[in-house]
Amino acid sequence: MPQRLRRSVLACPGSNPRMMEKAAASAADEVFLDLEDACAPLEKPGARAKIVEALTTHDWGAKTRVVRINQVGSRFAYLDLLEVIRGAGAVLDCIMVPKVQNAGDVAFVDRALTQLEQEFELEPGRIGIEVQIEDAQGLMNCDGIAFASRRIETLTYGPADFSASMQLPSLTVANGSPDYPGDPFHYVLFRLAVAARAAGIQVIDGPYLAIRDIEGYTLAARRAATLGYDGKWVLHPSQIDACNAAFTPTQEMFERAVAVLEAYRHATEVERKGAVMLGDEMIDEASRKMATQFYLRGRAAGLEPRQTAAAS
Ligand code: GLV
Ligand code: MG
Repeated sequence: MPQRLRRSVLACPGSNPRMMEKAAASAADEVFLDLEDACAPLEKPGARAKIVEALTTHDWGAKTRVVRINQVGSRFAYLDLLEVIRGAGAVLDCIMVPKVQNAGDVAFVDRALTQLEQEFELEPGRIGIEVQIEDAQGLMNCDGIAFASRRIETLTYGPADFSASMQLPSLTVANGSPDYPGDPFHYVLFRLAVAARAAGIQVIDGPYLAIRDIEGYTLAARRAATLGYDGKWVLHPSQIDACNAAFTPTQEMFERAVAVLEAYRHATEVERKGAVMLGDEMIDEASRKMATQFYLRGRAAGLEPRQTAAAS
């Protein structure tokens, strides 16, 4: 299955019907309805039915529809899965699993989904899994986790829980610290990107908590995009435009990718050369690969080449 467009991933509390209605009408590429940390413990059992109602009644357009269940070690996870799949298994795309610590956590969800798909006569294996890595154990085991199930579609970084797990002296998720040279999260972000790419899945950055600070959000989103991330969470619709822009190639870069593909095609097929100059740069087969992924990302986001050339 082709990978889904997941530039902006909107978080929405599953206990709040009004917010779910607004989320359905938003411009986010994905919405996840939350039964975990944005849902008060006393509201969790009731939120399951509210989520089913929202998924089965609103028009979600082309959005990827996801439900975040509670951690597999909690008393809620099994009933979250049962009620959500029973009521909305035919219309949701993925289950998001928070605080995954090892491949066994994923195996539990994978097998439960397989049983529920059989019980409720749903298409086998259609429902995907989004895995959140948000503590030290999860990060240590992320390689095995990324390969733990064919259902996995993303590794998603959870910076707030991760900061707590690592006992970082911070009360928010900020863009670095004046007390530390470089980006304190660089290692985590790139580590997860490597595991995800090795497994052929997407990699998503988590939330930026200061929702009015669009400048700070943009910086964080561009940072993740520079590491090849596919997208980032948005906690409020006001962050969506900045997010989508950060994870969409500029028209200029997209045109450059098209030009590389065309020049390389001409070089190899007409001139029978493996390396040629394009402007000031030497391009070869590796350039074609870089340009192809760039081109595909732009096309998925709706960009059109102005020139006639296109990737084949
Ligand atoms: C998200 O779940 C986070 O903990 O940052
Ligand atoms: Mg979390």
